[in-house]
Amino acid sequence: MFQSRIAGIGYYVPKNIYTNDDLKRFMDTSDEWIQERTGIKERRYADRLTETTTSMGVEAATIAIQRAGITSKDVDFIIFATLSPDYYFPGCAVLLQRTMGMGEVGALDIRNQCSGFVYALSIADQFVKTGMYKNILVVGSEKQSFAMDHSTRGRAISVIFGDGAGAVIVQPTTEHGKGILSTHLHSDGAEAEKLAMYYPGASGGIGLANQPKWPDQELGGMFITPQMIADGTIFPVMDGQAVFKKAVVKFPEVILEALAKNNLNPTDIDLLVPHQANLRISQYVQKKLGLTDDKVFNNIQKYGNTTAASIPIALCEAWEAGKIKEGDLVCLAAFGAGFTWGSALIRW
Ligand code: ACO
Repeated sequence: MFQSRIAGIGYYVPKNIYTNDDLKRFMDTSDEWIQERTGIKERRYADRLTETTTSMGVEAATIAIQRAGITSKDVDFIIFATLSPDYYFPGCAVLLQRTMGMGEVGALDIRNQCSGFVYALSIADQFVKTGMYKNILVVGSEKQSFAMDHSTRGRAISVIFGDGAGAVIVQPTTEHGKGILSTHLHSDGAEAEKLAMYYPGASGGIGLANQPKWPDQELGGMFITPQMIADGTIFPVMDGQAVFKKAVVKFPEVILEALAKNNLNPTDIDLLVPHQANLRISQYVQKKLGLTDDKVFNNIQKYGNTTAASIPIALCEAWEAGKIKEGDLVCLAAFGAGFTWGSALIRW
């Protein structure tokens, strides 16, 4: 049995910076409200007409591949995590495969939102451990700005999210005790509708409180209607307080699970890189685990919540800043829509 390790890492954020004050051009909000509740000062938005979730993923992947000392032709499997895919189908993994001129390798899309990167990394880890693949490209990328309600109606959600991408190359290692020590994945669908984007979707709103009025026809036509665009039904929904309550329980729980599995304690963590959901959530988790400020990496202040991209962007920034050194114990932890959550413990 092999162990897997992160052999290369890269990230990309679009150049367009939108500060909290910039958002006041579109909605009734304030820098004070946003910073107080989320810690966010600014976020990046992809160029509307030239950048896509895939193209940002390609930028991040190019750096990760180069840092791993391989070429795109060496990649033998692609895992792409996103909630803002270029198309309803096919997924972004094949679009990236095409753009990067890779071989006819397997390409898998993951739909686990904020936990997407940890889920994707866990899948990569299993494939490497069994010897099936040797150079797996894992990408988390989001272009959320395209599908947000940037009017006052959508302000409680749209101010939180940003765009960007991160990527890693996962390879086998024979160095004992090095690399990904374990991954831990969980879900609880009981509150699936509390953080969601219902449409376009094939449910037709069955079981939801405000089922849209669909065209009166025998078949089809149940995807998006002009009425849904007008009343904002097509935008994401979030019960912020329900998310907060569950996240502050599940983040520490899944981190402690990973530590226990490896006979380690919170004090052994050199760097915790949590999904950048909300600075208040990260601070709560930090306090609960008794970690000092230098042991937790946060960059949500600059980028907002970039969902599946947030962990690889943060991990890469921390690594580039010299905050992760050889032999360090790095913990990744995520919580998001579904609800889903997970962790990964890595000996760098
Ligand atoms: N600017 C100004 N006012 C706003 C804004 C805004 N951007 N958004 C909402 N408000 C107003 C509301 O309209 C409301 O006004 P009212 O009292 O006159 O009705 C008031 O602020 C309070 O609104 P709430 O929704 O109750 O705000 P709350 O204090 O709960 O904060 C928040 C919302 C920040 C989302 C909070 O619930 C939270 O931190 N939740 C955690 C969820 C989270 O972080 N999700 C991140 C994404 S999910 C993930 O990654 C797992």
